[in-house]
Amino acid sequence: MRTICVIGTGYVGLVTGVCLADMGNQVQCIDIDPRKIAALQKGQAPIYEPGLQDLLERNLRAGRISFTEQYPVGLANAEFVFIAVNTPEARDHGADMTNVRAAARAIAEHLDHDAIIVNKSTMPVGSGDLVQSIIASHLARPSVHFSVVSNPEFLAQGAAVRDFQRPDRIVLGSADREAAGRVAELYLPLRAPIMLTDLYTAEMIKYASNAFLAAKISFINEIARICERLGADVKEVAAGMSYDHRIGSYHLEAGVGFGGSCFGKDVQALAHMATQAGLHPQLLYSILEINQDQRRMLVDHLITLLGAVRGKTVAVLGLAFKPNTDDLRDAPAIDIIQSLRAQGAEIRACDPVANERTRALLGEDQITYWQTAYEAIDGADAVMIITHWNEFRGLDLDRVRGLLRRPIVIDGRNCYNPLDMAKAGLIYRGVGRGQTAALESSLPTPLAAISHASGVATMDLAPRESADIAQPVMGE
Ligand code: UDX
Repeated sequence: MRTICVIGTGYVGLVTGVCLADMGNQVQCIDIDPRKIAALQKGQAPIYEPGLQDLLERNLRAGRISFTEQYPVGLANAEFVFIAVNTPEARDHGADMTNVRAAARAIAEHLDHDAIIVNKSTMPVGSGDLVQSIIASHLARPSVHFSVVSNPEFLAQGAAVRDFQRPDRIVLGSADREAAGRVAELYLPLRAPIMLTDLYTAEMIKYASNAFLAAKISFINEIARICERLGADVKEVAAGMSYDHRIGSYHLEAGVGFGGSCFGKDVQALAHMATQAGLHPQLLYSILEINQDQRRMLVDHLITLLGAVRGKTVAVLGLAFKPNTDDLRDAPAIDIIQSLRAQGAEIRACDPVANERTRALLGEDQITYWQTAYEAIDGADAVMIITHWNEFRGLDLDRVRGLLRRPIVIDGRNCYNPLDMAKAGLIYRGVGRGQTAALESSLPTPLAAISHASGVATMDLAPRESADIAQPVMGE
């Protein structure tokens, strides 16, 4: 049993704290937000993350985790101090280190015993040195000895508890190998590969990993555009690619592009670091450019099918940036709704857990919020699927057809098979789903005429038995 202090109770800090407590450690979490602390003390997780609420309650009951606003209380006897505050995008597109600096300074002012400082937040390369120097220059008790270890997080939202408990790897970087070794011991029960390296390399591993995953997504989205023009189906292309174990199947789902608090921000920050170092990181810029274009492209698809959206009603299914979270940071749905509202559309929005957060962010001007997909679709001129929550993946297509004023479905996550949609009488547009004349000729005549006239690809190949059976599970 170790005593651990975790600073910051956001997605990363709270999951880290709760999971470390669940491993039998004594964990003391600090946050400067009194409302969050009050809720957490009562056992209420302020965020939606599968499994988190149960773990929080269990470890609170067991007395293994506590929450405070007070640094002296949270730091008391802590052998390890994790910095897990957020590092949002700064004006210059670098990482805003204000919260990290403040945490480092507060540690310096209140730490009264030796400790290992663990940098968990995503911080630019060189931040370990920064934290080291801030603490060293503000130490209230100069006899206190401390070392800094970088331990980047690789937690995907919606699966963060699982990712913590079953990590692919643990990365630890420090100039002090003994300190890194002691942090490694904390993680031994997880039986994951542990990599010990230097500070800068550990910090870079985090940025490079996120940039690579983001690159995979932008790559497949670019391929999707080419597929659309040339008549191939990007879902099958990705499946075919993924059999090559050098490529793998993850993060090859074409769609509306990535959102969330990490990919966009981290790729920007890495590009910023590279630019500051006199380089021209053109691949990183392309990742971001392609991603932004995906959002515009979906709105363009809608306008192609529906005409100008002024005065029309659009149902938007899915608001959070991905399923199983209520996080709206850089969520594609928010950009898309803003764009549609600006063009005069009325929005009927629906998300299983993010309605209230969206209401707080966007208000109620030209937007109504609905609990179920069918309520949202009722009377709409078109529906856009933006986040692939399970409940949006298996909609009753006849019911959808009956509820829509015009049978238009824009599928930003390729949840459906274009042929099934056409059979249900829906005018469907996914991302990169190609077009085959043979199938178009099998459409009911009026629909074939509509799709042909608008130049829209509504069809793909009939799912081949073999492809269906062998298709690996993609994505999260
Ligand atoms: C990511 C990393 O996965 C995680 O390791 C890191 O610590 C934080 O950033 P997260 O942003 O929570 O995690 O989610 P992730 O599952 O990676 O998805 C990011 C975005 O990409 C989501 O908007 C998702 O919908 C999108 N995505 C993902 C795709 O568009 N296609 C895919 O194939 C996979």
